[in-house]
Amino acid sequence: MPHSRWVAAFAVFSCFLQAPATSRSETTMAPFTLTALDGTSIAVPSAMADDFTVVCFLGTECPLARLYAPRLNELAEAFAPRNVRFVGIDSNCQDSAEDLQAFRDEFQLTFPVAKDAENVVADAFRAERMSEVFVLDSAMLVRYHGRIDDRYRPGVSRTVTNVRDDLRIALEELLAGKPVSVPETDVTGCLIGRVKHEQSNAKYTYCRDVARILQRNCVECHQEGEIGPFALTDYEEIVGWADMMVEVVDNGRMPPWHASPEHGAFANARTMSEADKQVLRDWVATGAPYGEAAELPAALPPAKAWNLEREPDLVVAMRDRPFVVPAEGTVEYQ
Ligand code: HEC
Repeated sequence: MPHSRWVAAFAVFSCFLQAPATSRSETTMAPFTLTALDGTSIAVPSAMADDFTVVCFLGTECPLARLYAPRLNELAEAFAPRNVRFVGIDSNCQDSAEDLQAFRDEFQLTFPVAKDAENVVADAFRAERMSEVFVLDSAMLVRYHGRIDDRYRPGVSRTVTNVRDDLRIALEELLAGKPVSVPETDVTGCLIGRVKHEQSNAKYTYCRDVARILQRNCVECHQEGEIGPFALTDYEEIVGWADMMVEVVDNGRMPPWHASPEHGAFANARTMSEADKQVLRDWVATGAPYGEAAELPAALPPAKAWNLEREPDLVVAMRDRPFVVPAEGTVEYQ
């Protein structure tokens, strides 16, 4: 779907939580090698003794990781002539190699990207979120760890003058031979979708319990052709979003409902019951098991263009002047 439209329209939902600061700077990571999408191998550190490598954990569907793709590309291009190499790693089990290739093509990424099967590198780095970056020197010492910048914060994108370009500043300082002034920052973005290991004491399954809960609370938007950034109708995809689903439900971000309870009850209130939330939490905590396909509910009918009961009283056409959507940033309501 043309995602950029929704980036603008739904910026209000972009309330990414801050991760607890678990410092990684000044620790030494083990060398690793991954196979890039084009089949070449990406070794970190490289044999050429590059001065610095920026390892960035990507995500093809996380709204925030997508917002940061053009920014990363710009930084990679700016620093390439100065012996700084960027490497993109996708550790999400829900992103296939094809998804990653499509993401690379869409944003015309110039740096190499690789799938991290079974999230081995993410585990070694203890990376938690998409768009989390590590700057490593040739001895694999972490010289900076955290966010790219603070442009996108809960619910707002800042005006450019207020942004601290943490990654760029850290690289400039390192290249000038200075210590990094802020070597560790909090990371925003969706939790990395790690592989799950089903536990034997699991009470709930996807087929019997969770598919129905998602149909009740989420699928209205999270289906093919609707406004959610990914569909929550397919088990493989859902498992990758498991931890993140619990995070957004627990902090009240999803399902989105902004009406204040102080102003009475609304007929079409989009609220999720505490019982549904608890089943979702327990299911994720016990490894998100699939269960028996025979117990799956029937799929919901496909989304309609107009979801409300009454037909609209008036339909206003878009003005016919062209509107240019910028490659990066947020568009205010027009
Ligand atoms: C009314 C439509 C709607 C419903 C219902 C809805 N979502 Fe979303 N969801 C969205 C949109 C739109 C986004 C993208 C927000 C953005 O671009 O910042 C989103 C984003 C997300 C994300 C990515 C993280 C984030 O905050 O952007 C997760 C995870 C998610 N939804 C889970 C759920 C779950 C779980 C449910 C059901 C309990 C649910 N959503 C119900 C519209 C919806």
